[in-house]
Amino acid sequence: MNSDSLLVAKGISKGFPGVKALSNVDFSLRKGEIHSLMGENGAGKSTLIKVLTGILKKDQGQIYLENSLISPASAEEAKRLGISTVYQEVNLCENLSVAENIYIGREPKKNGRIDWKEMYRKAEVLLKEKLNIEIDVKRTLSSYSTAIQQMTAIAKAVDTSSGVLILDEPTSSLDKSEVQKLFEVMKNLKSRGMGIIFVSHFLDQVFEISDRITVLRNGQLIGEYQTSLLTRNELVSKMIGKEWIEPLLSQKKHAANISKKNFLMVKGLEKKGSMNPVHLSIKKGEVLGLAGLLGSGRTETAKLLFGIDASDNGTLVIENEKIHSMNPKLAIEKGLGFCPEDRKTEGIVGELTIRENMMLALQSKRGIFNYIPLKEQKKIAEKYIKLLNIKTPDMEEKIENLSGGNQQKVILSRWLATNPSLLIMDEPTRGVDIGSKLEIRKLILDLAAEGVSILFISAELEEVAACCDRVIVLRDRYQIGQLEGEKISVKNILELISEGAGVVESVHD
Ligand SMILES: Nc1ncnc2c1ncn2[C@@H]1O[C@H](COP(=O)(O)OP(=O)(O)OP(=O)(O)O)[C@@H](O)[C@H]1O
Ligand SMILES: [Mg+2]
Repeated sequence: MNSDSLLVAKGISKGFPGVKALSNVDFSLRKGEIHSLMGENGAGKSTLIKVLTGILKKDQGQIYLENSLISPASAEEAKRLGISTVYQEVNLCENLSVAENIYIGREPKKNGRIDWKEMYRKAEVLLKEKLNIEIDVKRTLSSYSTAIQQMTAIAKAVDTSSGVLILDEPTSSLDKSEVQKLFEVMKNLKSRGMGIIFVSHFLDQVFEISDRITVLRNGQLIGEYQTSLLTRNELVSKMIGKEWIEPLLSQKKHAANISKKNFLMVKGLEKKGSMNPVHLSIKKGEVLGLAGLLGSGRTETAKLLFGIDASDNGTLVIENEKIHSMNPKLAIEKGLGFCPEDRKTEGIVGELTIRENMMLALQSKRGIFNYIPLKEQKKIAEKYIKLLNIKTPDMEEKIENLSGGNQQKVILSRWLATNPSLLIMDEPTRGVDIGSKLEIRKLILDLAAEGVSILFISAELEEVAACCDRVIVLRDRYQIGQLEGEKISVKNILELISEGAGVVESVHD
């Protein structure tokens, strides 16, 4: 073993019923390095991390920390050994405050009691200094967006890390500026000799931040590489096991076949304290993007349209029919679908199978007394497992046993299965690997060509620019501008966000 070896795993194997998640995998992390773990959805990345941190029991293999054999039996034990982890699905307590989540089990004390004032102060300083976010740390975690929840988990791990920091897709819902802040923190820890394991499906990030890359495919080790000696195409080729040449992500040409008719129109829809008046329309076959930074009101707008949040003002018209009080059930009846950003709390029903999870929205659309015949269910499930390349031994597998990216694909299938007239997609490619991401983008364009309207939300502005016919820009929960056709570019979106036109007072067309 190398003298600067920090965390070394040898011959790790782990199986689940019907799946060999890891087969004889070696992995080695050095002191003072950032090491990316790469592979397609279901390749075994999170499983390896859970084995290293004692959440899963390995079937075979050894783990060494600074040349000593370790065998952590729980995440707490791993933490005591100096290994802090941000797991792929944020596993904090939604009902506790941000500050409590960060300091749970190590609360500052005064005279034997929890010193709340000190805890809030420390949490504020930590978030501000390390990650440059200023929020009310007394509020419950559940009242914040997925991105803030992710930042909280990162802050906590960074604060408790001593030797090894493991980050499993920490940036999946963050914007560029937050990612840069996190990278600064990572570089700083690295310079102090820490070893960091980083997992991300954003190739740009992997190439920017990592010193070395280990690739897994189907639970097998493919190799360990010096990042500077690898190209993007080589990396993806190793991940998928065949030659890959990245297609150019050209900007979408304004589709000629967009109907003149609006499918949906909204005037002054608002929810006080959550979203200021929104004015927008979506035509049949149009892909409309919502762009903005964290907290700009993208998800809030989507929730108003779908009736998850009740609006307290404004009008909503769908195919010339005025909808007085929108709710999700009515939205589904009217042909809307809503693929939510947070698959864990708003999406998956862990106890149900993949097939059952895929049927939920369609069943609701048809009515609960109109049971979808099993044969039809199986046909639908088969179709989407194939279309979206969902990695599973069986459609009767519980969804909670799928890897994160594959769960995301099941949720997307659930809404596709309803054949919606308008599909709202809030971060549909979150945690999805590069190959499937391109498939989903293609699917969006195909759906639009068939006349489906799409409301598309993504923190990846390149993706917004590549998919949308028109983009509405939001900032601080205000609608501030719009870009159309040729004008849509990452640069122009960013410019609008930073300069900001005035608040949009009414719908343009
Ligand atoms: N608890 C479990 N029960 C059964 N199978 C499981 C379980 N956990 C993981 N698997 C399977 O093990 C394989 C590896 O999953 P893992 O979560 O490690 O993938 P991953 O590389 O992290 O993928 P992603 O990029 O989607 O997060 C997958 O086929 C998954 O379905
Ligand atoms: Mg994973």
